[in-house]
Amino acid sequence: MSLSWDDETTSVAVPRPAQQAPLGNTELNLSASAEPSEANAEQVALRVNADDKRIINGKTDVNQLVPFKYKWAWDKYLAGCANHWMPQEVNMQRDIELWKNPNGLTDDERRLVKRNLGFFVTADSLAANNIVLGTYRHITAPECRQYLLRQAFEEAIHTHAYQYIVESLGLDESEIFNAYNEVKSIRDKDEFLIPFINTLTDPAFVTGTVENDQKLLKSLIVFACLMEGLFFYVGFTQILALGRQNKMMGAAEQYQYILRDESMHCNFGIDLINTIKMENPLLWTAAFREEIKALFMQAVELEYAYAEDTMPRGVLGLNAPMFKGYLRFIANRRAQQIGLEQLFAQEENPFPWMSEMIDMKKERNFFETRVTEYQTGGALNWE
Ligand SMILES: [Fe+2]
Ligand SMILES: [Fe+2]
Repeated sequence: MSLSWDDETTSVAVPRPAQQAPLGNTELNLSASAEPSEANAEQVALRVNADDKRIINGKTDVNQLVPFKYKWAWDKYLAGCANHWMPQEVNMQRDIELWKNPNGLTDDERRLVKRNLGFFVTADSLAANNIVLGTYRHITAPECRQYLLRQAFEEAIHTHAYQYIVESLGLDESEIFNAYNEVKSIRDKDEFLIPFINTLTDPAFVTGTVENDQKLLKSLIVFACLMEGLFFYVGFTQILALGRQNKMMGAAEQYQYILRDESMHCNFGIDLINTIKMENPLLWTAAFREEIKALFMQAVELEYAYAEDTMPRGVLGLNAPMFKGYLRFIANRRAQQIGLEQLFAQEENPFPWMSEMIDMKKERNFFETRVTEYQTGGALNWE
C-alpha cells in the first residue's frame, strides 16, 4: 500500500503542469527585473515580511498572499484544486434502478442509506458555515485563508452531492434533511458540535487573549479532528462497503471523492492546529489537553451510538462492534497527530481497505461509474 493511514496529501495530489505555478524564491527574481518601484523607503519598510506572519492574531496585511510563509497551506490549496470534481460527473443510473427494485436492497441496507444521508445532508452545511462565518475571519495567514476558500467550496460540492443522491433516489427530502432534528443519534452528534461552531461565528468573539485563543484552538480541534476526522468515518465506511459489494456504486463513488477531500480538510486542520500551538505555546496547558482528551472520548461515544443506530443488526459484513475498534483506532491517530498521547490501547484498523479508498486517484476510481462529460440538471432518468 502506498499510503499510510494519515493520508498525506502530497501523494494524493497530482497537479497538472499548468497548475504548477512558480513558487519559492521566484518572486525575488521578478521584482529584481521589474520597473523601479514608486515606493519610498518608508513604504518599502512597511511591506509584508514573511517572518512577521502569524496564523492567529497576525498584524500583516491579509490581502497579500505572498511572500509565502505557510507553504503547506498553499500546497494543499493547489492539491484541492487538482482534485476538483462535481457530483453530476457520476452516473447514478444503476443506483436508481437498484433503489426502485423492491428486491434490490434489504430493509437494513435502506435504513443505513437513509440514516447515513440524514447525517451528511446537513453536516457539510454546518461545516461550510463554520468556515465562512467563523474560522475564516480569525485566521490571519492569507495562505490559510486561500485554502479555507477552496475548502468552503468543496463543502458546497459535498452538500450538492448528498442532495443529488437524495434527488436521484427519489427519497423523501424533508425526512432526510430534517433527520438532524428528528433522529436522536444524529442530533446528538450535531448538538455536540454546535457550541464550538457558535463560539467562532459569534460576532462578538475576538481572539487575542489566552482564554479566547484557547477557545478558538478547541473549536478548530473539534472541527478537524472530531467532526471531519471522526464523525464522518462510520458513514463513509458504510457507503463504501455497499459499493464494494456492487451496490449503490454511484453514491459510493461520490463518497469516495468526498472522503478524499475530507482527509485533506482534516490534514489541513491538523497542520493549522499544530502551527498555532507552535506559535502560541502558552495555549497548550495540561488542563487544556485534559479538556481536549475528554472531548475525544465523548465524540467516540457519540459516533459509536450513531453506528449502533444505523446498524441495529449486522449489515454488509459490518456491525456496530467492529466500529468500536475502528473509532478507537481513528481517535488514537487524531490524538497523536495533534501531539496528545494515545487515548486507547493499541487498536488494529479493522477496515484497511479504507486507506486504499483514500489513496484512490480520480482517474482510476474504484467504482468506475464516472461519465466523461458533465450531465446537465435534466439528464437524470427517473424511470
Ligand atoms: Fe465536506
Ligand atoms: Fe470538510
